[in-house]
Amino acid sequence: MADENQGELTARLTPILDRYEGRRGVLVSLLQDVQAEFGFLEEKVMSTVAEALKLPLSHLYGVTSFYSQFYFKPRGKHIVRVCTGTACHIRGAPAIQARLEDELGICAGETTEDLVFTLETVNCVGCCALAPVVTVNDRVLNRREQRKLSGWIREQRAP
Ligand code: FES
Repeated sequence: MADENQGELTARLTPILDRYEGRRGVLVSLLQDVQAEFGFLEEKVMSTVAEALKLPLSHLYGVTSFYSQFYFKPRGKHIVRVCTGTACHIRGAPAIQARLEDELGICAGETTEDLVFTLETVNCVGCCALAPVVTVNDRVLNRREQRKLSGWIREQRAP
C-alpha cells in the first residue's frame, strides 16, 4: 500500500465511488467499503476520497473518528478480541487479556509487527453465558476452544 501509486489507488477507489455516486447520506457506508478494500484508512486514501467527494479532509476524519469501526493503521490478519464486559470480567477476562498480551508481545489495541495479530478488547459480544469470551476473527471461542488458542497462535507464526 505504501508504494501504491496514485493511479492504482484511484483504480481501486473508482468502483466504490461510482457505486455511491449521487446518493446522499451514504458517507459512512462508502467509507466502510473503502476500508474493506484497503484494510484501513490510510491518509493518502482518505485525501483521495475527500478530493473525489469535494469534501474537506477534516470532515472525513470527523466522521470516521466518531465510529470505532474505522482504523487508521494496518491491522493484523487475525483479530483476537477479549471481552471485558462485566460477566467476562468477573469470570477471568483480565487474566486472559494479560496472557494474550504476553503471548503476542503486544498490548490490547496493538498489532504485531509481522501484521499477523491484532489484539483488542470489546464490551460484551452478547454471549455472556459463555463467559469469559474470546473471539478470533469474529468467531466466539468457548472455554474448551480457548485452551487451544496458544497452540493456534504458535502455528500462525510458524515459518
Ligand atoms: S460480558 Fe462478555 S459476552 Fe457479555
